[in-house]
Amino acid sequence: MIRPRRNRRTPAIRDLVRETTLSAKDFILPVFFHEDAENTPISSMPGVTRWSVDGLVKEAGEAFALGVPAVVLFPKIEEALKTSHAEESHNDDGLVPRAIRALKAAYPKLCVITDVALDPYNSDGHDGIVQRDGQGELHILNDETVEVLCQQALCHARAGADIVSPSDMMDGRVAAIREALDSEGFQHVSILSYTAKYASAFYGPFRGALDSAPKEGDKKTYQMDPGNSREAIRETLLDEAEGADMLMVKPAGPYLDIIYRMRETTTLPIAAYQVSGEYLMLKTAAAAGWLDEKAIVLESLTGIKRAGADMILTYFAKQAAVWLR
Ligand code: PBG
Repeated sequence: MIRPRRNRRTPAIRDLVRETTLSAKDFILPVFFHEDAENTPISSMPGVTRWSVDGLVKEAGEAFALGVPAVVLFPKIEEALKTSHAEESHNDDGLVPRAIRALKAAYPKLCVITDVALDPYNSDGHDGIVQRDGQGELHILNDETVEVLCQQALCHARAGADIVSPSDMMDGRVAAIREALDSEGFQHVSILSYTAKYASAFYGPFRGALDSAPKEGDKKTYQMDPGNSREAIRETLLDEAEGADMLMVKPAGPYLDIIYRMRETTTLPIAAYQVSGEYLMLKTAAAAGWLDEKAIVLESLTGIKRAGADMILTYFAKQAAVWLR
């Protein structure tokens, strides 16, 4: 008789036949930071801290020592520096370039990834530049935004970023950023594109962490509709043609089919972002004693990798690295 259970009989056999394994090397740690000298707990994300630049360097160093190869930077910009055209997003003395230089000085081998989008810098809280028409309707200006994104990517490259990661969902930004980087001598800087970024309610706690929620309207004219998956393939083909080095799906857990479909379509590495709302669901259920935190977190990360992700952005990166040691 054919008995599939023989392959599950002992831990040693299960180790031999396991198809998907997790390692600290799969993870990218998203880190929040601000101008203040204090490290502040983020109330919308229990267990997550908004660091000073010094605190950020220490946190990134700890993650790196645990085997996590990369961090992605999310700044909280002071309200007074926010403008309609987000000039602060490409200030070479701004918070992000200073953080990149500090990280690279302390840990030259740490991979530093930056988020390219205008929402932390924009007085409207949108990822792009906002224009209001005669009827009072908001429009997100695509091509004008892409010009600023190119300046932002160049600013991060000059400071020493290894990878820039456009999360704005404007059309044509990957090609434009690639050209801008190449023309300024940054051929070696990679682009991790948010290829399939959905207009998701799972980002709520993140916007609380950075005070970056849109002041008006929503992001549905640029982020993707949760009902669509063919559109993710369209974005995949475009990002590939435009020269992206790696593609991203976001959120991760509720979009495993998108990761799988993209995996079947592209040869490029795929990243998946287990976002703030996914973190919060697992964290609060575990804190209430309803779920076993270690088991549920490692299972959720395994599921994301099994679907086809090569790397996972997760707020659990440090903790999971400790569990996997
Ligand atoms: C914005 C950005 C967002 C996240 C990463 N970059 C929020 C948004 O699009 O509104 C969300 C990450 C998370 O929820 O953990 N450029």
